Amino acid sequence: RPTESFFEAVGGEETFSRLVAHFYEGVAADPVLRPLYPEEDLGPAEERLRLFLIQYWGGPSTYGDRRGHPRLRMRHAPFAIGPVERDAWLAHMRAAVDSLGLPADKEETLWGYLVYAANSMQNRP
Ligand code: HEM
Repeated sequence: RPTESFFEAVGGEETFSRLVAHFYEGVAADPVLRPLYPEEDLGPAEERLRLFLIQYWGGPSTYGDRRGHPRLRMRHAPFAIGPVERDAWLAHMRAAVDSLGLPADKEETLWGYLVYAANSMQNRP
């Protein structure tokens, strides 16, 4: 099925739900990252990341319907993200990606993007 999106190829909504749920369990317990999140309840932040990733990989565009253009660099500007924060973010994401048990080629594609995106979100030396 050459026209199948990456979103569909890795298992659709369920896969991205599992990914971000695992990731935010890590964030919730992380002394570096948790204080950056302005809201008491991490649920809405989890949903925004889930919907963004679903849209990015070719699934439904609910993120854009609700939030408009992602402008992720701009939306992260209020949060001090240096190498320590980026590394913490990626460590939780690595564990979350590992928990999915994807085929190696899919895992590499997803991970490569996440590393690139996390580097581009760094806004402090
Ligand atoms: C929002 C931290 C990287 C996607 C946020 C928020 C924080 C944060 C504190 C606000 C929570 C909220 O939504 O209320 C970080 C840190 C990163 C990082 C410390 C370390 C590099 C990334 C990356 C992506 C991403 C790499 C995408 C692949 C998002 C999205 C939102 C968000 C989609 C919600 C944007 C919206 O308001 O619609 N992030 N983030 N973040 N982040 Fe990150």
